[in-house]
Amino acid sequence: MDIKDHIRGIPDFPKPGILFYDISTLLAHPDAWSVALGRLANDVRKLQPDVLAGVESRGFLVAAPLALKLGCGFVMLRKKGKLPGKTIRHEYSLEYGTDTIEIQEDAIQPGQRVVILDDLLATGGTMCAGVDLLRKVGGNVTGAAAIIELNFLPGRQRLSDMNVPCSTLVAYD
Ligand code: PRP
Ligand code: MG
Repeated sequence: MDIKDHIRGIPDFPKPGILFYDISTLLAHPDAWSVALGRLANDVRKLQPDVLAGVESRGFLVAAPLALKLGCGFVMLRKKGKLPGKTIRHEYSLEYGTDTIEIQEDAIQPGQRVVILDDLLATGGTMCAGVDLLRKVGGNVTGAAAIIELNFLPGRQRLSDMNVPCSTLVAYD
């Protein structure tokens, strides 16, 4: 099955000139979604994670079912002001604008192997901010994975610069 058959490109969202790759149609198709999660599970399993981390909000849709499938814990990287208790935050640039994500200080046991998940890797700002936070709370980040990768943006290179290998299911030029 070609996962791309279930992903829509929507022009000029959220700003003129941006082609938005929309996974709504993949999520709405249980057979295709199951195939996609199975392929991600095969890649992520090799990284032997104890915990999967997902980035709010679309990263949750990927990381939470995958964590159950692999028998891992699931940790939330949330947009600012949403998590209770002691948190640390990181501001980062997006493909369009800036954002801040947070993690609870006690989210990871020291040395736990963590894989970070998102729906899409573009500039890598989101994933790299997540890696930074996971490391700050003691995680051993063994890799990153996403459904979609944009080849014309430096996300993969930026993760590689942080010594984080990345696997994705589909790429767009
Ligand atoms: C999108 C996407 C990734 C990120 C990729 O999230 O879901 O998380 O941007 O871009 P980057 O590699 O340039 O950082 P967005 O912040 O739009 O929010 P959402 O997941 O809550 O929809
Ligand atoms: Mg996102």
